[in-house]
Amino acid sequence: MDRFSVAGKHIAITGASSGFGHHFAGVLAREGARVSLGARRTEKIEARVDGLRGEGHAAFGAALDVCDRASMEAFFTTIEAEFGPVDVLINNAGIEAGAKTYTMIDEDDWDAVIDTNLKSAWLMSKLYTERVVANEQREGNIVMISSITDTRTIKGQFPYAISKGGVTRMTEVLALEAPRYGIRVNAIAPGYILTDVSRLVVEGDNAPDFVKGIPMRRFGKFEDLDGPLLLLASDASRWMNGSIVVVDGGHVCASL
Ligand SMILES: NC(=O)c1ccc[n+]([C@@H]2O[C@H](COP(=O)([O-])OP(=O)(O)OC[C@H]3O[C@@H](n4cnc5c(N)ncnc54)[C@H](OP(=O)(O)O)[C@@H]3O)[C@@H](O)[C@H]2O)c1
Repeated sequence: MDRFSVAGKHIAITGASSGFGHHFAGVLAREGARVSLGARRTEKIEARVDGLRGEGHAAFGAALDVCDRASMEAFFTTIEAEFGPVDVLINNAGIEAGAKTYTMIDEDDWDAVIDTNLKSAWLMSKLYTERVVANEQREGNIVMISSITDTRTIKGQFPYAISKGGVTRMTEVLALEAPRYGIRVNAIAPGYILTDVSRLVVEGDNAPDFVKGIPMRRFGKFEDLDGPLLLLASDASRWMNGSIVVVDGGHVCASL
C-alpha cells in the first residue's frame, strides 16, 4: 500500500450527512478509501452514499447518534460487517448553540453541545479502541475535528469553544494513552468555513469586518481541508501523534 495514499483503507466518518463530513466522504472515496458514513439524518446519508456509489466508489451508510452509546456500538457493528475493521475513525460530528453567551445558554444547550462535540469524541474513541483490540488490528488512527475556537474565541461561542478546547486537549491526552493499542490520534483545527455550524459568523452582519482579521483575507473552503485530511488519514503521517493541524489562513496568528 502506498504510504501517502488512503486507498483500500476503511475510514469511518461521523457527522457525514452535511458540511465537512459530507465533503470528507467524497475526498476519501475518490482517493480509493472505503468510506462509512454516519449521522442521524439517514436520508442525507443514503443520498451521499448513492452518489458516491454511482461514481464507482466504495461507500456505506448507517444511522449514528453520537449522543447514544447503543447507536455508536450498532454503527461500528454494521460498518464492520460491510467493510471489515475500521482503519481510520474521523470524529467530526458537531453542533453549536447559536451565538449565545454564558448567561444566555441553559442546561440543555450546555448538555447538547458538550455531549455532541466532546463526550462523543471520547466515547467513539473508546469504543473504536475496543474494536481495534478485539479485532487484533494492532494499528488504528483517530482524526479529531477540533476548531481554532479551541484557542481563539469570540463572544457568543460559549459552550462550543469550550467543547473544542476539550477536543484539542483530548487529542493530546489520547496521543499519550492510545499508542499502547497501536492507535495514533491527531486533530485538524479548521478556521471558519461556511456550514450550518459557522453560518451565524460567516454570513453575519459583521462578516466583512471579521474576515479582515484573517491574514489571508478570506473564509475557508471545504477543499482547503483536503490536504491535511489526506495527510492525517494516510500513513504519510505515521509518526504524527498528538498534532493539532491548524488550517485557517493564519487566523490564529492575528491579534485582532
Ligand atoms: N464550519 C466551520 O467553520 C467549522 C470550523 C471548525 C470546526 N468545525 C467542526 O466541523 C465539524 C463538522 O461541522 P460542519 O461545520 O460541517 O457543520 P454541519 O454541516 O452542521 O455538520 C455537522 C454534522 O454533525 C452531525 N451531527 C450533529 N449531531 C449529531 C449526533 N448527535 N449524532 C451524529 N451526528 C451528528 C450532523 O448530522 P445529523 O444532524 O444528520 O446527525 C452533521 O452531519 C464539527 O465538529 C464542527 O464543530 C466547523
